Amino acid sequence: MNESTIYLDNAATSWPKPPSVWEAMERTMREAAANPGRGSHRMAVQASRVLFEGRKQLAKLFRIGNPNDIAFTLNTTHSLNTALQGWLKPGDHVITTMLEHNSIRRPLEALKRKIGIEITYVETNALGLVEASSIERAIRPDTTLIALTHSSNLLGTITPVGEIGQIARRKGVKLLVDAAQSAGVLDIDVEAMGIDMLAFPGHKGLMGPQGTGGLYLHPDLELEPLMHGGTGSSSESIEQPTTRPDRYEAGTPNTAGIAGLTEGVKFVLAETPAKIHRQELKLTRMLMEGLSDLEGITLLGPGMETERTAIVSFLIENVDPAAAAFQLDRQFGIAVRAGFHCTPLGHRTAGTVETGAVRASPGYFTTESDIVSLINATREIALTHGKSHR
Ligand code: ALA
Repeated sequence: MNESTIYLDNAATSWPKPPSVWEAMERTMREAAANPGRGSHRMAVQASRVLFEGRKQLAKLFRIGNPNDIAFTLNTTHSLNTALQGWLKPGDHVITTMLEHNSIRRPLEALKRKIGIEITYVETNALGLVEASSIERAIRPDTTLIALTHSSNLLGTITPVGEIGQIARRKGVKLLVDAAQSAGVLDIDVEAMGIDMLAFPGHKGLMGPQGTGGLYLHPDLELEPLMHGGTGSSSESIEQPTTRPDRYEAGTPNTAGIAGLTEGVKFVLAETPAKIHRQELKLTRMLMEGLSDLEGITLLGPGMETERTAIVSFLIENVDPAAAAFQLDRQFGIAVRAGFHCTPLGHRTAGTVETGAVRASPGYFTTESDIVSLINATREIALTHGKSHR
């Protein structure tokens, strides 16, 4: 990878990062790389401050009253496992959707096997959109949780989380939101949207490094911790502390990573998610229009008239998506992700469960010239294969 790489895989991990992110990581490694929350020497206290500052910035972004209601995790999958395994009990019914990533589906299916829960996968409408009314219809007396993605990592479609949150509150069901594709680009207000648990990555829209993420838990919620162990607090007790965030943060955290994440969040707050989203959508529109003008290209999901995030999945006639991604990378220096994107459910919804697809995901630092390069390269691949099959 170098400066000339055209990076269009931001839905997996955003790249590049604002320089303040890696500068803070380096500074933390040099100056504050002691163990936060353990020991009272100055470097340990400094490391604790790094974590607190991170929580504070995240609380500002998601409008969370108490920063200690945010637990740091390794990634969204870790957050979702903490939420699902900590909340669901034998016999519970959970509602999810046909757009989910394996990070919701697999832990749910594992819980079904291990403790016996029931799962309803709500279908989308013809456009690939989850409708709040479909979620409401699926609620049963034994439903204890609605767990769903805010934005599909395959189609970029957006789930009406606010509307679903109001339904969940009315019916006394908890709402867990997977913000893997929305944190940093869509407005998220946990109170106003009725979100009880918010799982988010540090390494995508929040511009932080890999190995960082978080889980917000509503103050009234109590989960069985996913991991038990040292927290630096109540060490004499054999029980995991009940105080937050310690209860959900056993073991030494990724202090340098969180320092980077904090700078990423500050960057997002300064630019504003609305501006970032607008810029990404401009590039997305350009890409969708350019691709749809080409012969032999099929775009997945709804068009630009439908609200979305910056994800464009497509098929090239007669070309295996993995082969197309390989050629885009090796011949044209363009990084995209092909295959099933860890969402066989999403591909079933899109009708591409047999083929997979190519996915391009522009980010805030993508340029218009990057988009033109992808359109031109796709045209060349489509033309070559089109001819060889005539
Ligand atoms: N969830 C990430 C993706 O969609 C890794 O690519």
